[in-house]
Amino acid sequence: MNLEELRKQRQTWMGWKNIAPLRSAIEKLAQGYYSVALGDTIKISGDLDEEYIYETAKMLMPWRKGPFQIGNTFIESEWKSYIKYNLLRPHFDLKDKRVADIGCNNGYYMFRMQEDEPKLLVGFDPSPLYKTQFDFINHFVKSDIVYELLGVEHLPIYDEKFDIIFCLGVLYHRSDPVAMLKALYRGLDKKGEVILDTFYIEGDEEMALCPETTYSKIPNIYFVPTVKALKNWCLRAGFDDFEVLEQSVTDTNEQRKTKWIAGESLENFLDPNDSSKTIEGYPAPKRVYVRLKKDKR
Ligand SMILES: C[S@@+](CC[C@H](N)C(=O)[O-])C[C@H]1O[C@@H](n2cnc3c(N)ncnc32)[C@H](O)[C@@H]1O
Repeated sequence: MNLEELRKQRQTWMGWKNIAPLRSAIEKLAQGYYSVALGDTIKISGDLDEEYIYETAKMLMPWRKGPFQIGNTFIESEWKSYIKYNLLRPHFDLKDKRVADIGCNNGYYMFRMQEDEPKLLVGFDPSPLYKTQFDFINHFVKSDIVYELLGVEHLPIYDEKFDIIFCLGVLYHRSDPVAMLKALYRGLDKKGEVILDTFYIEGDEEMALCPETTYSKIPNIYFVPTVKALKNWCLRAGFDDFEVLEQSVTDTNEQRKTKWIAGESLENFLDPNDSSKTIEGYPAPKRVYVRLKKDKR
């Protein structure tokens, strides 16, 4: 299927019976003048129908990424996404660049990235719910961000190459991580770079943890590599340069249950007697942030 056919086919996902009511709710949002402040909390003020906005935001749950403040409605997402954004902030400058955010969720990082005035900002995420959350926020922000209901696997056929590709929190969800890294490689322009993060395990060996069913209660985690194994995957995918930017441990300040998600969060995913372990007994999630270049010169 070519790109146009894919887009058309995926547009039909907006008609799914769990998504269609959300689409019609956001189509009924009143038009008005708003001002937007792109800080740690993305804040929107102006001509707002407070009650309707609150009810619509509630319909769009779960809110994983954020937070957003729209008038009196504070969408306190599960993740304080500004912690990751601020950690990475010193490592990029997007001015006049073609930028992609792969696995962009509701677009929180892309809204923030507008501060650099990139030439083009494209988000890829195959979730119609997260795209609808994006459209809701973008109703007020009125950005030029392009949101594609596509996955990382579509980068090789995409009609644009990028100067910088962000791919945060996606690699461990892929059953073939090297194939995913190759797709990122093919999405880049010659001088391009990827900023990627993933869970990792400690160790000097070139090894990866392969969870039997779940990791930290997350079902679709396939491989959690050591940093050395991650580097080998990246080199095998064709990257010429691999640089570790940051390492971090997620805590319950960054990820926790709020009233904007149903169900559990990090506090239930770790061993209650030993937070260095997941509930399954694996090493607790740690993240490594890396920069990959096609060509180190
Ligand atoms: C763990 S979240 C990470 C969100 C965000 N990038 C971050 O780091 O906070 C993974 C995201 O990847 C998206 N996703 C799922 N399948 C994907 C695919 N094939 N290609 C790109 N993104 C995908 C999910 O919808 C979800 O928004």
